[in-house]
Amino acid sequence: MSLLITGGTGYIGSHTVVELLQLGKDIIIVDNLSNSSTLVLDRVKAITGKTVTFIKADICDEAALDTVFKEHDIEAVVHFAGLKAVGESNDLPLSYYQNNVSGSVTLFQVMAKHGVKNLVFSSSATVYGENNPSPLDETMPTSATNPYGQTKLMVEHVLFDLARSDSEWSIACLRYFNPIGAHESGTIGENPNGVPNNLLPYVAQVAVGRLPQLQVFGDDYDTPDGTGVRDYIHVVDLAIGHVRALESLTKIKGCKAINIGTGNGTSVLEIVNTFKEISGQEINYKVVPRRAGDIGTVYADASLANTLLGWQATRNLNTMITDTWRWQSQNPNGFE
Ligand code: NAD
Ligand code: UFG
Repeated sequence: MSLLITGGTGYIGSHTVVELLQLGKDIIIVDNLSNSSTLVLDRVKAITGKTVTFIKADICDEAALDTVFKEHDIEAVVHFAGLKAVGESNDLPLSYYQNNVSGSVTLFQVMAKHGVKNLVFSSSATVYGENNPSPLDETMPTSATNPYGQTKLMVEHVLFDLARSDSEWSIACLRYFNPIGAHESGTIGENPNGVPNNLLPYVAQVAVGRLPQLQVFGDDYDTPDGTGVRDYIHVVDLAIGHVRALESLTKIKGCKAINIGTGNGTSVLEIVNTFKEISGQEINYKVVPRRAGDIGTVYADASLANTLLGWQATRNLNTMITDTWRWQSQNPNGFE
């Protein structure tokens, strides 16, 4: 039996594939390479000594997915494939709805047709919207403030309805907080196209000399130092969260939304100062006005993942930043 990993050559997918290969799992990756490269597969092999079956295909392509399910004996799917840039989603909403919503529905239809009803889906803390106080827990109301967030929320709704319609489905919607870090080998990590939107890849590129200066978006939030607070989680802890979710699917009847975070908040300036200390590099920054759509404080109540999946994060901020820096300094131009 095999596991199908959509988006498996991407940032979180590749780290999850490493953990699964190390457990001896047989892996099939479907990815259209819109935001990744097959170079990652050589790195995954270097870490694990194992190979995967790679299929270049789009999740919107029903015929291609049908062939994958016909030709392989798939027991469960981990569904990472999707577009993820909040700003871009405001400019290209149709691409986001097509890829993230239509593509997901197509995947679920093909899964249902082939009787594969075990699924782990990449959701996001963005579904908590702007109005809930942290710590955020899974019982809180959900909402979205941009097309990207809407797509995550819509797919969650699709999955809750699907599980209600057919009791054979076991689905974990993992709501990730802020994934950072890289594999401890320094051979795989986050490799954003163009100028990064997210804090950590931006700071790392300033440290390595690719970008001149970080802009800190606002220092007038109601937080200890005035800068935004987030729940950063090591990508390997997140990957292990997927392993635990797959192992727990037999216990999960229906569809469950589960936070994957550490439960701790860290400010932008704490990140900058820790990065500076660990890398020994100056991080040139200036404070600018708040970024539209940002909120001051976001962190998880991570207790449900512990109860339901037996999972909790174990890597601290120093490890997250040490591993980010190892990846960035060993691969200043990413995988190229
Ligand atoms: P990523 O861009 O590195 O990986 C996504 C992968 O999906 C890429 O390899 C891309 O080529 C592939 N892909 C995109 N559209 C596809 C399609 N239509 N068909 C086939 N493949 C397709 O992103 P990531 O950071 O690894 O994120 C993985 C998932 O986790 C995404 O669904 C994302 O929305 C979600 N997520 C990410 C974060 C984060 O901060 N990184 C936070 C919350 C949720
Ligand atoms: N920030 C800066 N400068 C930058 C980038 C970010 O000061 O150049 C600050 C932000 O204002 C925020 C913090 O750093 O306070 C983290 O910002 P990120 O862009 O790294 O992450 P967000 O929390 O804004 O967004 C992330 C994911 C989204 C997801 C959201 C909610 O990127 O996909 O978490 O889960 F929707």
